[in-house]
Amino acid sequence: MSTSSGATTHPASGASFSTPSPMDPRRRNLIIGTCVAGGAAVAAAAWPFLDSWSPSERAKAAGAPVEADFGALGPGQRMIVEWRGKPVWIINRTKEMLADLAKIPPGNLVDPDSKQANQPPYATNATRSIKPGLFVVVGICTHLGCSPTDKFTAGDPTMPAGWEGGFFCPCHGSMFDLAGRVYKNMPAPDNLIVPPYRFASDTTVIIGEDTKGA
Ligand code: FES
Repeated sequence: MSTSSGATTHPASGASFSTPSPMDPRRRNLIIGTCVAGGAAVAAAAWPFLDSWSPSERAKAAGAPVEADFGALGPGQRMIVEWRGKPVWIINRTKEMLADLAKIPPGNLVDPDSKQANQPPYATNATRSIKPGLFVVVGICTHLGCSPTDKFTAGDPTMPAGWEGGFFCPCHGSMFDLAGRVYKNMPAPDNLIVPPYRFASDTTVIIGEDTKGA
C-alpha cells in the first residue's frame, strides 16, 4: 500500500518501505546519472568488489560460456563477469548475510519460493544458488533493465526500516533481497534472473553452462 509520502507498507509485516517517487528531482537526477553512466554505475558501487574477469573476445562474440575464477573474492565481496553482453554478479555471501536473508518474512516477497522460472532448477531453493554462500545472478533489474545497486548491509540507513540487505534499483525504486527476490509492491515484477552455471572447481565457475554438463 502506498501513502502520500511515497511510503509502501507491506501487508504481511506492516514494514514501511519509502519508495521514492520517479518525479522526485533527486530521484530524477539519479535516474539520469544511472542511464548515462551505464556500466560505470556498476563500477562506482560503494561495496568492495573485484575487477571484472574478461572473457576472450571470441567467447563474448559467440555467446559462449565464460569461466570465472572467484578464488580471491573475499567475504561480502562481489565481482562482475560479462556473459552474452550482460553483467553477471558473483557474490560471496557471508554467514551473516545468509542469516539476514532468512529473516525476511516470505509474505513481503513476490515470489519467495522462486516458483517462477527465473533460475535453473538446481537453484530453486531458499538461497537461489548451488552453494548457499556463492550467489550468481544477472545484475539487471527485471523492470526496465537498469543495474541495481548493492545495499548488502542489514540496517543500511539509506534503506527502509527493517532492511536485511540486498539490492536497490535507482531507476524506479525496486528492492531485492540478497537472493535477488523482489519485494512486493515494486515496479519490478520478478526476481532477478539466475543464469545457468556450474562449478568447474572449488574456485572456478562456468557461466552459461548447466550442471548436467559437469
Ligand atoms: S528499471 Fe525500473 S525499478 Fe529497476
